[in-house]
Amino acid sequence: MLEARGLGKSFGQTRALNGVSLEISEGEIVAITGPSGAGKSTLLHCLAGVVRPESGEVVLDGRRIDTLPEAELTKLRRESFGVVFQFGELVPELTAVENVALPLLFNRHGRQEAMTVAAEWLARLEVSDCANQRIGELSGGQRQRVAVARALVTGPRVVFADEPTGALDTLGGEQVMSALLGAARTSHTAVVLVTHDNRVAAYADREIALRDGAMLAGVDR
Ligand SMILES: Nc1ncnc2c1ncn2[C@@H]1O[C@H](COP(=O)(O)OP(=O)(O)O)[C@@H](O)[C@H]1O
Ligand SMILES: [Mg+2]
Repeated sequence: MLEARGLGKSFGQTRALNGVSLEISEGEIVAITGPSGAGKSTLLHCLAGVVRPESGEVVLDGRRIDTLPEAELTKLRRESFGVVFQFGELVPELTAVENVALPLLFNRHGRQEAMTVAAEWLARLEVSDCANQRIGELSGGQRQRVAVARALVTGPRVVFADEPTGALDTLGGEQVMSALLGAARTSHTAVVLVTHDNRVAAYADREIALRDGAMLAGVDR
């Protein structure tokens, strides 16, 4: 479904990606692991259409996306992808339910419907209590659950998560991770998950280990 073919990307003298090829199937959960600086975030950003690779191709459902004009790429990201980052990156001025409704509003759903669907997702992630609180009032774990709800609310093909539990304690991180992966499996959404935590990688169907911008090996689980 989502394919990388020979991706290369440099930042100045640094070769962040050096010929990475992989294919992710529908509903598959893939962990990208490796030490700091291995190119994990750069790979994720290339797959998600946030960073354009210098060489190689990114292909979604047989269509090359890395060369799309910016406006088309933005639309594709909104409709087909969801993202969760380390610190949630939620809008602090909005409540939890408004944050989750936002992607639906961008995709031209009516406000009433968007708020209803957003509330359902908060319930699935067991943070209904927080619906009308602002982001600043939430704990780290609650924020990440809200961020997961926001990533999944549009029914994306793929959710990209970059160290989504990196700022949480072990238990909080495991709970958020199982909430993310459980919801993704139920809705048959593929997940590309960057982590340096082996226990997190163990939840995935497949692990892709990166070193110095290249793949070491694929480990099937
Ligand atoms: N925007 C950038 N500007 C300059 N160097 C960057 C940038 N993004 C990444 N790099 C460099 O590219 C390499 C890979 O980075 P990154 O993909 O963030 O690795 P990881 O996520 O595995 O820690 C690192 O050496 C990093 O310093
Ligand atoms: Mg990173």
